[in-house]
Amino acid sequence: MNRVYDEERLANAYERGNAMPEESMRAWVELIASCSPRPAPSVIEVGAGTGMFSAAMARWLEGSTVLAVDASEAMLAEAQRHHAHPRVRYVSGAAEAVPAPADAFDLALLSRVIHHIPDRAGAARELARVLRPGGKTIVRTTFRERLDALVYEYWPALRTADERRFPGEREVVADFVAAGFALESVTSFAQPVTASLRDYHARLVARPQSKFTCLSDEQFHEGLSRLAAAARSEPQEKPLPVEERYDVVVFALS
Ligand SMILES: C[S@@+](CC[C@H](N)C(=O)[O-])C[C@H]1O[C@@H](n2cnc3c(N)ncnc32)[C@H](O)[C@@H]1O
Repeated sequence: MNRVYDEERLANAYERGNAMPEESMRAWVELIASCSPRPAPSVIEVGAGTGMFSAAMARWLEGSTVLAVDASEAMLAEAQRHHAHPRVRYVSGAAEAVPAPADAFDLALLSRVIHHIPDRAGAARELARVLRPGGKTIVRTTFRERLDALVYEYWPALRTADERRFPGEREVVADFVAAGFALESVTSFAQPVTASLRDYHARLVARPQSKFTCLSDEQFHEGLSRLAAAARSEPQEKPLPVEERYDVVVFALS
């Protein structure tokens, strides 16, 4: 298993470098709610990280309860610090051996974690086990064939690394279908992450994502300097909003 998130430095940097505006998070929760087979769902988030989605679901999915599972103690500690909520329970565990009984949940969320799971087929089987019939799994990622983030313009080596790390749509669909899920929908869209290049630079300064661990310090700082120069030349009165692409796949368990 990829244990890069065990590193405390990355866990500390993750929250600040990946936070999103409240209206964007609300829109995500509305999308998740639209997939729910029933009101007040019982939800599991696998790879919950610092808990931003788990807490948002507990907040805005009325009456829901959330089991937030993550393999990294360092990320779980950050989750308790930033996103404790009376209806979220943070637990240590792995996607391939989910610490929950069978038929316990209506909804499962995997946000930005599918590329970290070596035994994806095993994880899909685990989700089929813990979901109730009619339950849904939502995978939020960017598939290999649609990696088009601005980050690659400043760190081209990351594109090559991510093309190896991120699975393609067909591979993920095949694993979930083999586990007993039916593919319900695939949606792909870009969402603003910062209002300007300047804010984008400020977000990335602390190397807040696992992808940056494949760069040497020198490579990281070279790319950061190029981004800083672009941010400095950005017209103040007309900043450039930065977007990131997400693919959202919904699977239903029959
Ligand atoms: C990029 S973070 C995503 C966090 C959160 N879901 C979000 O969208 O902000 C990936 C998380 O998945 C966790 N993770 C990686 N592999 C895992 C596995 N096999 N089982 C459970 N968690 C895993 C990592 O520890 C990390 O916290």
